Amino acid sequence: MARTATKKVNRIIKKSLPKKTKTLPRGNKAVKKKIVSEPILMQPPRGMRDILPAEQDYWNRVRMVLDKEYPKYGFGRIDIPAVEFANLFVRSIGEGTDVIDKEMYSFLTKGKDKVALRPEMTAGIARAYIQHGMNVLSKPIKLFSIGPVYRYDRPQEGRYREHFQANFDIFGEEDAVLDAQMIQLAHRIMLNLGIKEVQFQINSIGCPSCRKEYLDMLVSYFESKKKKLCKTCKSRLKTNPLRILDCKEDKCVQVSATAPQTVDHLCEGCRNHFKNLLEYLDELELPYAINPQLVRGLDYYTRTVFEIWSVGEEGKRKSLGGGGRYDKLVESLGGEPTPAIGFALGLDRLIMEMKRIKAKSYESPKPRIFIAQLGNLAKKKSLKLFANLEKEGILLAESFGRGSLKSQLRTANKLGVEMTIIIGQKEALDETVIIKNMVTGTQETIPQEKVLNAVKKILKNKPMVIKKRKVTNK
Ligand code: HAM
Repeated sequence: MARTATKKVNRIIKKSLPKKTKTLPRGNKAVKKKIVSEPILMQPPRGMRDILPAEQDYWNRVRMVLDKEYPKYGFGRIDIPAVEFANLFVRSIGEGTDVIDKEMYSFLTKGKDKVALRPEMTAGIARAYIQHGMNVLSKPIKLFSIGPVYRYDRPQEGRYREHFQANFDIFGEEDAVLDAQMIQLAHRIMLNLGIKEVQFQINSIGCPSCRKEYLDMLVSYFESKKKKLCKTCKSRLKTNPLRILDCKEDKCVQVSATAPQTVDHLCEGCRNHFKNLLEYLDELELPYAINPQLVRGLDYYTRTVFEIWSVGEEGKRKSLGGGGRYDKLVESLGGEPTPAIGFALGLDRLIMEMKRIKAKSYESPKPRIFIAQLGNLAKKKSLKLFANLEKEGILLAESFGRGSLKSQLRTANKLGVEMTIIIGQKEALDETVIIKNMVTGTQETIPQEKVLNAVKKILKNKPMVIKKRKVTNK
């Protein structure tokens, strides 16, 4: 990095750090004591939340669909840290963007490193691509990643300070056919989640050479209408004029409507790239619209940019995902010139949309057998029986903490199991079990070593062995 650039990056990081670092001075017992004695708030920090078991059926459906799709398209999974050196993000995402100027969680570690919680994943993935010399592997390199990202934004419906993303990124290919295939993959995932109505908003913002001329034109246009712009956009004129195009303030929307459009000022290479992309999308018959106002909020994009919009009520439409090309990012971080394209899906928003349209969630398999026990020896035997049957892939329920047989059978009934295995004191000593059919109420006593076969036989008409499932961690 050139020295002036380093200084600039340091200045931006310094600005985004809290005035007084929150690290406690070593040995300052009074301050530590005060913090320890403050009441603990029974809630996470604002904009962050727990995702409780009742909601996990939706999350599991999303994870399962993603886990199924990414290998089919040739992606390999990569996991990167949630914390990186802050200048990686400043360099990649760019000064003047909301993500860097307002939303990045940056802090000094005790070792005085300037780090940040990742506000997105692309920068970290590009860093890993360079660090691990993936450029020598045969191209394209396709990487899939999933996890939380952090933005100190104003929380509201569908906007959190901790949200979850799934990212698909391809390094090493410039052809527009990849852009089309990425959009098709995003569409495929939507359909598999039951989200049938989406619209792809597409634009091309050109490459640095054609964008320079376009930006000069855009700045002089907005300068002539400066009075009509909102306060933020007035300052964006200096820092990031392209972002004025997607400002949501009414007066800025009006001014932007007649602004010069990127697609009319592309160089020949970018124009052909965009034309090819549109032809591929037509071939795929995907629901897309060209949106000349779409510029995205991250500076690394070149050429294709796109977003996936839900087709909900006017005013409530949300971007479920977004991405684009970033052909210059790897090079700008010190790697060799490497074209790249990627997109991220906002998992929280996908789930909001699935709930809104009442899409199917994942239905976890229900246990069909209950183990009930009475007495200390029986409890030991039941514990072992549970472990032995579970090892065979049989889904079971129990309430080992309860002593009363009546209350255990009540639980079994509530769960709607078809069969209860009962071990009382006598059975524990005899090494037998009672098998109670919960539908007919009949029961029989069999030796313990025959339980597995009996269970399989009784339930053989319906598959009760759960398939070993691979679930992606958040
Ligand atoms: P992004 O558009 O900033 O792109 O974020 C991707 C998606 O994350 C959004 O479309 C939205 O669904 C979701 N999202 C963003 N912010 C929030 C929030 N505060 N709360 C809930 N959901 C949110 C990127 O991050 C790029 N890195 C995508 C990419 C990958 N480009 C190339 N590769």
